[in-house]
Amino acid sequence: MKKKFINAVIYKHENASEFIIEDGKFKEIGTNLEEVSEVIDLKGCLVLPPYVDSHLHLDYYFTGQTDKATNQTGTLFEAIDIWNDFKKGTSKQEMKDRMRQAIMDVASYGTQFIRAQTDCTDPNLTGIKAAIELRDELKDKITIQVVAFPQNGMYSYNEEGKSGRDLVEEALKLGADCVGGIPHNEWSREIGEKSVHEIVRLAVKYDKLIDVHCDETDDTHARFLEVLNAEAMKQGYGKFTTASHTCSFGSVDNSYAFRMMGLFKKSGIHFVSCPTENVFLQGRQDNYPVRRGITRVRDFVRNDINVAFGQDSIVDLWYPAGNGNMMNILDHGIHLAQLMTKDDFNNNFDLITYNGAKLMKLESEYGLEAGKPANFIVLDAPNVFEALRNRSECIASIRNGDYLFKKQPSVYKIDLDISNTNKI
Ligand code: FE2
Repeated sequence: MKKKFINAVIYKHENASEFIIEDGKFKEIGTNLEEVSEVIDLKGCLVLPPYVDSHLHLDYYFTGQTDKATNQTGTLFEAIDIWNDFKKGTSKQEMKDRMRQAIMDVASYGTQFIRAQTDCTDPNLTGIKAAIELRDELKDKITIQVVAFPQNGMYSYNEEGKSGRDLVEEALKLGADCVGGIPHNEWSREIGEKSVHEIVRLAVKYDKLIDVHCDETDDTHARFLEVLNAEAMKQGYGKFTTASHTCSFGSVDNSYAFRMMGLFKKSGIHFVSCPTENVFLQGRQDNYPVRRGITRVRDFVRNDINVAFGQDSIVDLWYPAGNGNMMNILDHGIHLAQLMTKDDFNNNFDLITYNGAKLMKLESEYGLEAGKPANFIVLDAPNVFEALRNRSECIASIRNGDYLFKKQPSVYKIDLDISNTNKI
């Protein structure tokens, strides 16, 4: 059964306004396409590939709204300490219920692809098991990659005779898709570097992707990103490696950054920045001026180094707000990274679509292209500029040719003719 969508403004297809879907795949994108019995008029709305949230902690969802504890300092490290107690005693079903609600939230805004950072520093691997089960149950509607993320460290954590490193390996054997890490939370620089070497070794051994929480501090001397990039490059693994956060790289000396940019290009490493979380968490030891806390996103964009934005947190111990709407993340991100030239506006949606798909290695199944699965979203906007300026709503999300949801565009009507005003 073929469906034809007409009167569409299709992202990065300037000369096309129609597309046909057959058997859940894009058959053709163009103009004046063949007549088919089912025609859907998109009335000039913008069509994008689905949003990709390439960095989200599903297991932390709404942990910030409980009576158990609150993060008084607003810092990363207090949140980690509180979570360490919080997670004990959480059942797999509780974890799964919260994760499922988080997925429903983000999907309601047009996200169909999630890289789920999932804490594995738990001897029972409760979160990892819950995330893997959900990934498999929901795969037809949402694509989820599970990162084995040792929140409390690979070598600085040991409980019930299991180290963080051992638990990462166990999670990979259970089916996690990516090796995670957090070298800046290990007890010393030496141990942090050791963890980076082990992350790359495990990824190569088990044929997994890498996504490391790397230098999520304001420390101008932090160098775990340099070590990760070098180690990945040495193994020919740069294009399978993502460095998340890398906040300190936004604070380093410019001559050092210049040298590193060349090495990032050489390795093919990817970056994820979480603008709302890091502008909130970082700069906590600064007096004024307070640093923005985000990495060099604009430099990455200008130098063709792949970078995507992620939501990171939804009402958790790290960040008390967030709703999973990637439009909100993009809005904050392009302000903080100062990405507002005409060319930027034309490409900014890449930061929450194609760039995330690229680092998740989804190129073969993602994008608005004939032959690929018919996954796309529709925004209530006539073009990318208006969509960004108005933070336009996602009014439909389509997966394999079928609606995940469809909303009526909001109607706004106000009479501004003062002659109609009731006068006293
Ligand atoms: Fe994170």
